[in-house]
Amino acid sequence: MKEKLSAISLEAKNAVALCEDESQIENLRVKYLGKKGELTAILKQMGSLSPEERPKMGALVNEAKQELEALITEKKDELKAKAQEAKLKAETIDITMPAKEVKSGKLHPLNTVLDDMINIFQSMGFDVVDGPEVETDHYNFECLNVPADHPARDMQDTFYLAENLLLRTQTSAAQIRTMETRKPPIRVICPGRVFRADEVDATHSPVFHQIEGLVVDKGITMCDLKGVLEEFAHEIYGSDTKVKFRPSFFPFTEPSVEVDVTCSECGGKGCRVCKGSGWIEILGAGMVHPNVLKSCGIDPEEYSGFAFGIGLDRLTTTRYKISDIRLLFENDKRFLDQF
Ligand code: DAH
Repeated sequence: MKEKLSAISLEAKNAVALCEDESQIENLRVKYLGKKGELTAILKQMGSLSPEERPKMGALVNEAKQELEALITEKKDELKAKAQEAKLKAETIDITMPAKEVKSGKLHPLNTVLDDMINIFQSMGFDVVDGPEVETDHYNFECLNVPADHPARDMQDTFYLAENLLLRTQTSAAQIRTMETRKPPIRVICPGRVFRADEVDATHSPVFHQIEGLVVDKGITMCDLKGVLEEFAHEIYGSDTKVKFRPSFFPFTEPSVEVDVTCSECGGKGCRVCKGSGWIEILGAGMVHPNVLKSCGIDPEEYSGFAFGIGLDRLTTTRYKISDIRLLFENDKRFLDQF
């Protein structure tokens, strides 16, 4: 019985030493020390021993049990500590890892430029007004001194929705709506989308943006127009920028001008952006035609005014060196993320 006891003890000690996790060690505890365990079984066989041997054997078995229990507890603690260490290691945060990118929305480049323009005009005392994108022929053409069959209608290819209903081809329609609802002195800008049935290419889109401006008061002259537009060009392009007023034609202004600024790409030497001319056209303008004032019930003998229409898209593509206007409308995130 003694040999059997030492054989079982040895086997149990070896098994404990080989244990790799807590469930294995628990199985061993049951196998050797449990109610039906192998060491417990030896105790049950003690009845067959002589009365002198029994206490000695009993003491030996208890000693073996205690020794094994101690070993198992020690091993359990060791495995527990190891498991804890492994868990901590797995949960370690590597503070040298690059942080997750935080995606935030941003302004479209057209809106950034528009905000700048609005700030410039507001600082000169202009109000911002809004106008509908679906317009009547009356506001988009008639009141702007472009009657039906007037050849000037050919300057703008129009999307008609019904006989007298169209997508506005110019924010100039807002001039009329403003003069109908406000009394002079008037100083407003109206930014917005306009629509023309143009062929689409790198510089033309059927949707684009204008900022209309209108000033009406007593004694307004071409000098006021020049001053305001020069100030605007210097604010937006820098004070070294030269501004050129070229005679032009618009039915709703007389006289009419187109305004060029020195090319911001080449500084006026001539390059691909300005097609070698050194100048970039940014807007059309003029003194409000007496017929337009009259159509809004304003007496041209008493009041005069100037108006202008600035293309927002060209200003944006030149500022950010964007080679194709279509990029502004495609909403490709890879493009927009660059701003
Ligand atoms: N509406 C014109 C266009 O779309 C731009 C323009 C020119 C607006 C002269 C004006 C102006 O107010 O006075 O081409």
